[in-house]
Amino acid sequence: SPSIRVAQHAGVCFGVKRALEEASKVLAEQDGSIHTLGELIHNPRVVQDLEQQGAHVAHSVDEVKDGTLIIRAHGVAPQVKQAAEDAGLHVVDATCPFVKRVQDHARSLYKGGYQVVIVGEAGHPEVEGILGCTDGKACIVSSAQEVEFLDISSRVGVVVQTTQTSKNLREVVDALLLRAREVRVFDTICSATNERQEAARALAATCDLMLVIGGRNSGNTRRLFQICHDVCPCTYHIEDAREIDPKWVACASNIGITAGASTPQGQIDDVLSTLKQITS
Ligand code: F3S
Repeated sequence: SPSIRVAQHAGVCFGVKRALEEASKVLAEQDGSIHTLGELIHNPRVVQDLEQQGAHVAHSVDEVKDGTLIIRAHGVAPQVKQAAEDAGLHVVDATCPFVKRVQDHARSLYKGGYQVVIVGEAGHPEVEGILGCTDGKACIVSSAQEVEFLDISSRVGVVVQTTQTSKNLREVVDALLLRAREVRVFDTICSATNERQEAARALAATCDLMLVIGGRNSGNTRRLFQICHDVCPCTYHIEDAREIDPKWVACASNIGITAGASTPQGQIDDVLSTLKQITS
């Protein structure tokens, strides 16, 4: 039977795991109505499970009349958290400490008179939260090319969305250095993304079948898929163990598994046991 290996780093990161644990605690107490502000994690099955247990998804603070509101790992703008508290909600802030760190640096740069540049994806919830820490004044750039369109002041402070690559950060900083007198940079990239990508690439390179588990709406899962597909053409993105086609497995001798940052361990275990059943 084939060898089956899971990438050394795979699945939920520290921050998401922590947010899920916070939600479980709130659910165990079941004190009044429970909402998460946005889907707690980009994983349909987990969101459904949470819903069944009584944690509903709210798309804005206004939708929630009472009870507990859980803020997810991505964080929110301080104004949003304030609005929830002003509305009398019990706020459970599950913002990842690494995201908090980006927010804190952005705030202190802004207060220190720097023009804040956020390297990241405009519109992404994490970036929106960071933006709020600068009263909406920060500029968001996704790549070095965008720097040339910025109105640059002489003192620029840079923070970066946790999931960006250091290559992109470096390119943006290089472009800024050509234009500003002072550039202060906080490298706020979280190693979880990079670790998962490196581990996936290393494993996929030694496999003839690679399965990438995670929500189809999860950006980081799709990125893992691309990375694996580049080195292992027989790579499939699945959300669920039931999607595994025995035909994929039939002639594989080295099977690798990885999972996006929004895939709980339970789903990885399901895939492992399904594969073992098929191959035994
Ligand atoms: Fe936090 Fe890093 Fe995950 S910032 S939410 S541990 S990807």
